[in-house]
Amino acid sequence: MKLSTFTTSLALSASASAKFINYTTVTGYFAQDDPSTDPSTFDYTSHNFGLLDRTYESDTLHPSKNLTQWQRFHAQLQYLNAQAPAHVQYKLLFLGRHGEGWHNAAEDYYGTPAWNCYWSLLTGNGTATWKDADLTPAGIEQAEVARDYWAAQYKEQRIHFPDVYYSSPMTRALKTANLTFTTQPLSSILAAPFIPTVKEGFREGVSLHTCDERRTKSYIQGLFPEWIIEEGFTEEDELWEGIKGETSETQDLRSRAALDDVFFPETVNGSFSINVKRSSTGRPAGVCGGPSPSHSPAPPAQGGKASDLVISITAHSGEISSILRVIGHQAFKLSTGAVIPVLIRAEEISEPQPTTTTTALFTPSAYCTAPPVTSAASGCVCQSSAAPVTTGFPALSTETPY
Ligand SMILES: *[C@@H]1O[C@H](CO)[C@@H](O)[C@H](O)[C@H]1NC(C)=O
Ligand SMILES: *[C@@H]1O[C@H](CO)[C@@H](O)[C@H](O)[C@H]1NC(C)=O
Ligand SMILES: *[C@@H]1O[C@H](CO)[C@@H](O)[C@H](O)[C@H]1NC(C)=O
Ligand SMILES: *[C@@H]1O[C@H](CO)[C@@H](O)[C@H](O)[C@H]1NC(C)=O
Ligand SMILES: *[C@@H]1O[C@H](CO)[C@@H](O)[C@H](O)[C@H]1NC(C)=O
Repeated sequence: MKLSTFTTSLALSASASAKFINYTTVTGYFAQDDPSTDPSTFDYTSHNFGLLDRTYESDTLHPSKNLTQWQRFHAQLQYLNAQAPAHVQYKLLFLGRHGEGWHNAAEDYYGTPAWNCYWSLLTGNGTATWKDADLTPAGIEQAEVARDYWAAQYKEQRIHFPDVYYSSPMTRALKTANLTFTTQPLSSILAAPFIPTVKEGFREGVSLHTCDERRTKSYIQGLFPEWIIEEGFTEEDELWEGIKGETSETQDLRSRAALDDVFFPETVNGSFSINVKRSSTGRPAGVCGGPSPSHSPAPPAQGGKASDLVISITAHSGEISSILRVIGHQAFKLSTGAVIPVLIRAEEISEPQPTTTTTALFTPSAYCTAPPVTSAASGCVCQSSAAPVTTGFPALSTETPY
């Protein structure tokens, strides 16, 4: 891909012309939704993924059975849905962060300021490659910890495995999902075959970092030929360009659109779809409320059904933070390879919400063109002669094959 063919013109429009879905976190079920839980020390494998030991309204429906906490939780989830009006759904999402990638290792190695200001814009350092980073050996182990924990939770708790699976298109997320759910001990206890849908909307926030540029659709198909890639997924990455990055507002809009596909695949019909395209002709695509030639209704997510109550999404630290904002969950930063369950109530609101159309949702950020002064705690403190710049990074002007 030639970066020079991209202009900096880009725009985003998110229009909710028909319906709006109000997502809320139902609290009181998991330690992670309790403000007194400290995310920096919490270990998801310490007790039932964080599921609290408690009684539920639905317990009285099966008094004579000796069910585990997870079995009773699943009965409660079914009960909540059975009691809910037709325009309300409850689902349990397992949000998994990928295991450690080479970009995470490099950030630790160089320190965050130097990583953000310089090293992250390179594709690697000669020893490690971090453009669309692969898992490190430690990252593979973290995915295996998740796999083993799922297996143990089934053995001890008869946990209900996900009914449907989604993954970010980044290599580290695809491989983490694969390592967590495809291995032999699990195949006989899955609730549904492990055939994930790869969804653009669950990728990491698009920053200037080369680890946020995804590989092609063909590459992903070659890696996992059995998996589903959502319709409309472009061959090339049309979002990353290395000069401007997505704002968190933009990221939240696309996280919301992706959740809409997950929750209401039959009814949403792309009315919430977010249209973020970089234009190579200088004309913003799909902007300002006008008809957009490239805009077509998003297809339903394959495999998504209202009866799918437990959903696995393998994504990223920043993307999971964005999903948590959309669903009104307290901030809960995950370490690499960690998993957080969230119980969500989704309500379709019929009144149209005002159309939001906005531009400049991607912004440039400053960086140094040489390794910066690494003692800086924040911001880019470049070497004496060099000031931070916000134009194209010189090292990216030639394509590095990988
Ligand atoms: C969304 O739902 C919550 C909880 O049910 C409610 O407090 C809030 O007002 C709703 N928001 C909208 C926009 O309807
Ligand atoms: C219920 O299940 C627990 C855990 O499996 C077991 O320890 C206990 O003995 C069982 N109680 C009855 C009454 O079956
Ligand atoms: C490159 O970065 C990795 C961390 O990802 C580090 O272990 C390695 O030593 C670095 N190589 C060089 C040549 O600095
Ligand atoms: C997917 O996981 C299986 C089982 O661990 C492994 O054998 C295979 O190599 C993985 N595939 C990729 C492309 O990583
Ligand atoms: C979505 O599309 C289907 C088939 O194209 C149609 O039957 C349905 O009414 C549409 N739903 C909405 C909410 O527009």
